[in-house]
Amino acid sequence: MAVKEVLRMGHPLLLQEAQPVTRFDTPELHALLADMRDTMAHLDGAGLAAPQIGVSLQVVIFGVAHNPRYPDAEQVPQTVLINPELTPLDDEQEDGWEGCLSVPGFRGVVPRYTRLRYRGFDEKGQPIDRSVTGFHARVVQHECDHLMGILYPMRIEDFSRFGFTDVLFPGLVGVPESE
Ligand code: NI
Repeated sequence: MAVKEVLRMGHPLLLQEAQPVTRFDTPELHALLADMRDTMAHLDGAGLAAPQIGVSLQVVIFGVAHNPRYPDAEQVPQTVLINPELTPLDDEQEDGWEGCLSVPGFRGVVPRYTRLRYRGFDEKGQPIDRSVTGFHARVVQHECDHLMGILYPMRIEDFSRFGFTDVLFPGLVGVPESE
C-alpha cells in the first residue's frame, strides 16, 4: 500500500458530501484503509478521512496512542468508522485547539460538543456504538465533518485564535496533533 498525497484546503473534493459505503470487507475497502493508515502514520496525524486522499466515501480512521512525552494527553483507541452517525448527548460545547492535515501549518480553536454518541461500522461491517467525551469526541467530530465537506476553519468563531502553529506555539512541546 502507499502513502497518498493529502488534498489541501481549496480542493473542491474536500467540500463534497461523501457517499456511504455499501459493501464491507472487500479488497477495495481494505486497500483504501491500508492507504489511509499509511498516510496518517507517515504524517503523524490523529485521524484521516477518505476524502482527504481523494476518495469520496464515508470512511474515517482515528486514534491517539499513549505518548510518554505527553503522559497526560488523552488516548483514543485506533478506530475505523464507516457510515458514521453522530448524536450529541447534550448541548454542552467546549473550545479546543485543532489542526488538519489538509490545512498544514495552522492551528485554530474550534467549539465542539463535549459529550457524543457515535455509531457506524468497522471494515467488516460490524456495528460500532460508543459514547465518548472530550478529546475523543472532538476527534470524531473533526473527522466526520470531512465527510460533510466541512473543514475546521469553517467552524472557527474567534479568528484571534487561529494562526501558524510555529508562531502560536514557538518551541513548545505538547502542540495538539494534526488531524
Ligand atoms: Ni482534518
